[in-house]
Amino acid sequence: MPDPLADHGNLGAALRLAAKEAEAYLARIDDEPVRPPSRRAQPTSSLPEDGVGSLAALSELIAASVDGTTRSAGPRYFHFVMGGGTPAAVGADWLTAAVDQNSYSWLSSPFASRVEQISIAWLQELFGLPASWSGVITTGATMANFVGLAAARRWWGLEQGVDVESAGTSGLPPMTILSSGYVHVSALRAVAMLGLGRDRVRTLSRDGAGRVDLDEMSVALREHDSEPVVIIANAGDVNTGDFDPLADIVALAREHRVWVHVDGAFGLFAAVSPKTRHLVKGVDLADSVIADGHKWLNVPYDSGFAFVRDPTYQAGAFGTSAAYLGAEAAARPAFGNLGPEMSRRARSLAVWATLRAYGRDGYRAMVERHLGLAQRVAEQVDAAPDLERMADVTLNVICFRYRPPGVSEAQLDEINRRLGELVLEDGRVYFGTTVYDAKVCFRPAIVNWRTREDDVDLIVSTVRELGARAVALVEGARARP
Ligand SMILES: Cc1ncc(COP(=O)(O)O)c(C=O)c1O
Repeated sequence: MPDPLADHGNLGAALRLAAKEAEAYLARIDDEPVRPPSRRAQPTSSLPEDGVGSLAALSELIAASVDGTTRSAGPRYFHFVMGGGTPAAVGADWLTAAVDQNSYSWLSSPFASRVEQISIAWLQELFGLPASWSGVITTGATMANFVGLAAARRWWGLEQGVDVESAGTSGLPPMTILSSGYVHVSALRAVAMLGLGRDRVRTLSRDGAGRVDLDEMSVALREHDSEPVVIIANAGDVNTGDFDPLADIVALAREHRVWVHVDGAFGLFAAVSPKTRHLVKGVDLADSVIADGHKWLNVPYDSGFAFVRDPTYQAGAFGTSAAYLGAEAAARPAFGNLGPEMSRRARSLAVWATLRAYGRDGYRAMVERHLGLAQRVAEQVDAAPDLERMADVTLNVICFRYRPPGVSEAQLDEINRRLGELVLEDGRVYFGTTVYDAKVCFRPAIVNWRTREDDVDLIVSTVRELGARAVALVEGARARP
């Protein structure tokens, strides 16, 4: 197969092969173990001189994927916070590859630009954010945090008379950034990528790990009253699903010169249900807000969103022009100039399709089902004599650990760590351990559209079933000289 042109006639067969195999893969995913079954079929690893053509290459990849993929698109993957792809989103994602638009601008793709414009407006409505804000689709929450904090950095520079995109930050004092113990590492990474220094982020919470301490934040803001300050507030802690009090933070911030950025990677979806909407009260008064698409929206990887109250800061942080790129109208900015990437995949198609397919009501129903499932697991944890719940279940994450009677506190971390490995090896359900409140524990998160009661019931039963083995393994290792 010397040249892709010679493969032209196989395009239809290649698409049909992928569709047939993908359909079979996804039809099995409700029942299969989550861990990869084996790694027997491996993709060729040396660069071929002569290609084999599309059908043979795809067949090889299909065999390797059937053997080697983690079934994270399925209903019992509770490890990180990962959704699957709804039927509408997966179909639209395939279409995205087929139409292969560059959603840089209205010049490169009016279609992709319009779909992104509609998607952003729908998401703003879904999350209760004002339509006057600007927004952009990113690759995920990390890049969305980057966008929101880049807008914050522009504001911070201009407050001090400096256009940091032109002049840089070197003449300015370090930025004061305040957050809580819930700040996610991805926000710290964004701060680092922006050259602001992740160690500049001060976490203000009573125990150093949890919800913000508003009194301490108030003191810190008074100490820094002469300078512009950035606050990173957290809507949905990755270990517990808990929230910083957004309305209180915003109220406090308004007494000072502060930009409030909210990381709501999955927690922003609390806005979708009247049962949890109170958790994000005040989010519409923040300056920048982000969420993920590949978490609770259940579009395939990768997808995230950033929204900024004052569009001039977002446009100012990323605006770029060159003669060949064409002029853009202020009222209709190029989405490739509202985030870090210029050439961009049309991720909006999957967002639009899933919202069009299921609507606000469908998402409310799914989120509420997940809230109910999380409470169900919490009740099972509470009823089990050998399990201990570590935090309230405010949303969709259940933080707990194995605590069998007769085992000393000193041994519990090691037992839970070993048990986490056994759960992953077992593969019926999939979640590892975290450290919360200085203790090793589990934090399964429920966000996949496919997940039902039978799936979540395996969380507690599997942990309890494997628990005795973890104790025996840890005690056996200690007994050996
Ligand atoms: C609160 C929070 N923020 C940010 C992220 C990072 O998201 P992503 O991996 O999509 O960049 C996560 C991921 O779990 C998260 O839970």
